Amino acid sequence: MSKKRVLTGYRPTGRLTLGHWFGNLMNMLALQDDYEAYYFVADWHALTSDWADTSGIRKYTEEMVLDWIAAGIDPAKATIYRQSDVPEVAELTMYLSMVTPVTWLERVPSYKEQREQITEKDLSNTGFFMYPLMQAADITIVQGDIVPVGEDQLPHLELTREIARRFNNAYGGLLKEPQAMIAKEGARVPGTDGRKMSKSYGNAIFLSETEEETTKKVMGMMTDPARKLKTDPGDPDICPLHQIHKLVGDAADVAEFDRCCRSAECGCVMHKRKLAEDLNGYLRAFRERRAELAATPGYAWEVLAEGAARVRPAVDELMGNVRRAMHVDAG
Ligand code: TRP
Repeated sequence: MSKKRVLTGYRPTGRLTLGHWFGNLMNMLALQDDYEAYYFVADWHALTSDWADTSGIRKYTEEMVLDWIAAGIDPAKATIYRQSDVPEVAELTMYLSMVTPVTWLERVPSYKEQREQITEKDLSNTGFFMYPLMQAADITIVQGDIVPVGEDQLPHLELTREIARRFNNAYGGLLKEPQAMIAKEGARVPGTDGRKMSKSYGNAIFLSETEEETTKKVMGMMTDPARKLKTDPGDPDICPLHQIHKLVGDAADVAEFDRCCRSAECGCVMHKRKLAEDLNGYLRAFRERRAELAATPGYAWEVLAEGAARVRPAVDELMGNVRRAMHVDAG
């Protein structure tokens, strides 16, 4: 029996954060052993919102691949490729657009939200509007069974399923309807200010930053805002420091900080020092591997070239079937 397929993609918009690590990377790592894994850099998706300045895309692509591999994504197991190296994604996007009503794209929550909230970029372009449609093509072109993503992506997965269903009704059951998979723990890693960790909020801890940078950020973290004095009892449940410590610290240490915070026996500064130490310890092996990988020039591009070759048979097979079903093949 052939293995089921797992697929996911990240937009290359910068280095990966602790939010990526707990929100999705852990799932990707676990799945690469039991599934045929396809992990790709969604560089065309980055273009949809950052079309006015595309100068960072190649650099971010390379950094993302190094971050993935240093985190344990194994290029011998998982096929790591770049979206733009599979031009058929654009072709399939176009075919899928035939069965996708404009209203389906208009009602995607992230579309409405980002059009309203992101004011520093011009998102009135057609490419941005088609973002979820292209995502549906990414997924169906390799017939992904499972798609590990953050919670915010659920509407995109639902839309993919609807598009696949409509396509299948019109042209025969060629496309697989994928299942989303959400990370159990730490789906929402708080940033240094207590909001969801995100590069665009400026509250992110990057996996590949230096220990000094991490320590500085942790020492500046927000804690329970109601705890003004060390003698005030704190509430660990609303403290971002505690939330992150739970993910990276020793369970007994974490329990002790929980206790002494509630009883006002220990202060936040001490807890910050401990978290900085534990977090740097937790990330040390990753950072060492990351530095080793970065020392080989061109390594990420070699991995991507190999990945592009490895994804090819799946793409050729599906696209052959799709063109035939739509009568746009040689006949
Ligand atoms: N939309 C995803 C994000 O913003 C990135 C993405 C593009 C993706 N294509 C995909 C994720 C296909 C999963 C599957 O994070």
